[in-house]
Amino acid sequence: MTTKSTSSTDQDRVRIFDTTLRDGEQCPGASMTLEEKLDVAELLDQMGVDIIEAGFPIASNGDFESVAEVAKRTKKAVVAGLARAAIKDIDRCAEAVKAARHPRIHTFISTSPVHMKWKLQKEPHEVFEMVIQQVTRARNYVDDVEWSCEDGTRTEHDFLCRCVEAAIKAGATTINVPDTVGYTVPEEYFALIKMIRERVPNSDQAVFSVHCHDDLGMAVANSLAGVSAGARQIECTINGIGERAGNAALEEVVMAMRVRHDAMPFTTGIDPTLLMRASRLVSAVTSFPVQYNKAIVGRNAFAHESGIHQDGMLKHTQTYEIMRPEDVGVKQTSLVMGKHSGRHAFREKLKELGYELGDNALEDAFKRFKDLADKKKIVYDEDIAALVDDEIAQAHDRIKIVSLMVIAGTMGPQSATLVLDIDGAHHTTQATGNGPVDAIFNAIKALVPHTAKLLLYQVHAVTEGTDAQAEVSVRLEEGGKEVTARGTDPDTLVASARAYINALNKLALKRLSVNPQTAFG
Ligand code: KIV
Ligand code: ZN
Repeated sequence: MTTKSTSSTDQDRVRIFDTTLRDGEQCPGASMTLEEKLDVAELLDQMGVDIIEAGFPIASNGDFESVAEVAKRTKKAVVAGLARAAIKDIDRCAEAVKAARHPRIHTFISTSPVHMKWKLQKEPHEVFEMVIQQVTRARNYVDDVEWSCEDGTRTEHDFLCRCVEAAIKAGATTINVPDTVGYTVPEEYFALIKMIRERVPNSDQAVFSVHCHDDLGMAVANSLAGVSAGARQIECTINGIGERAGNAALEEVVMAMRVRHDAMPFTTGIDPTLLMRASRLVSAVTSFPVQYNKAIVGRNAFAHESGIHQDGMLKHTQTYEIMRPEDVGVKQTSLVMGKHSGRHAFREKLKELGYELGDNALEDAFKRFKDLADKKKIVYDEDIAALVDDEIAQAHDRIKIVSLMVIAGTMGPQSATLVLDIDGAHHTTQATGNGPVDAIFNAIKALVPHTAKLLLYQVHAVTEGTDAQAEVSVRLEEGGKEVTARGTDPDTLVASARAYINALNKLALKRLSVNPQTAFG
């Protein structure tokens, strides 16, 4: 394996370390299939992410496989895998990243008193020895080793400096100081990074990295404060997904440094025009909706509703706009789509929205677009994005809906007649339930027996109006694994069935990565 040098002559260049596929995927319900992870990794690489943390190889065979596959396929970025301070973790991680053009082992151990005492049940001197052993072992495999002091912001300073110095001496090339519990504030984090850099004698031999969680809503501000104090790597995720309240959002740290370059004169290698596409893709594959008012990529981020604002915008866009929508890949609609639009216009519209589909997927999406255009006067960009996201989510599915008929209304019992295609064979059933959605879910359970528990059922409209498409989210849990999936259709009941089936397909893929014999129970 070769190692990409991460030392830069440009003092103001900040490396973007994306952990959507590791910390992002760690949040309950956000799990992605292998194919989905590969799609995300490909886009991150294309976007100019410097380091892609592809997963935690020791966690499961599925995690190992996805890190190995991302490592094999990534063209430009460094590919990192995460490993605890254990021999088997580091060896497994090294195996997973070994095919990467630029492999990195990211190894961590907790250093705060509370973590050492309760989580590790180890004395500081034992942890100190483990730091040296873990970094040394990782360096036997690769030249690019990152060491993280988990819960760094609640670590005692003398001990932290001793560990950092020892990690660098043992060969760590990047030192990451995580705010694991999202507890710090910008001034404090600035002072912490500055203190470590000043006090640790060999600190000039490593790149310092920030990794902030958003429990108090300060992950982005803290990350930027860390950069101002000399850190030159930011660990972040698309849409800010991650453990609990999530991580610093990639799109926010990148655009903050671009738009306020005067205050934060740092650069990244990110192509910001791909930010919206990455946000949509991650939202589609995790089925985690993007908050409407989310900075940079939220649906309302560039919408000007009030009369005063609209008036100002018409006079001069800079009255209320600090960046242009097109800077982050939000295209002004140039093609209005309707039932007379043909394949060519549809393909152009997909390009405009940042989608590239293969011929078969394009054909399927086009058929669904035509059906939709027959039912809806105006087909908005959001409708097309939802429909294509749904197609992408179903691309590798083993269970598909063939037809659904529902009897609903005041004269119960509500019933559903459902035909499913399971691995190419058609299966039919009829079921009743306490309402039409319950009847549909009972029919699905009859055709695909499973023990998964329904944790969430949520409906929202993709656009306005009574003819709007419904987007349904379903979260299922089975054996401690949670998956979330979405389904879209102008008919809320069909969207509900699609969402439930998409979630079952995801669960089946999860089981397949563990044991191919038990895919459908
Ligand atoms: O939040 C954290 O401390 C982490 C480490 C494993 C880097 O995710
Ligand atoms: Zn984290």
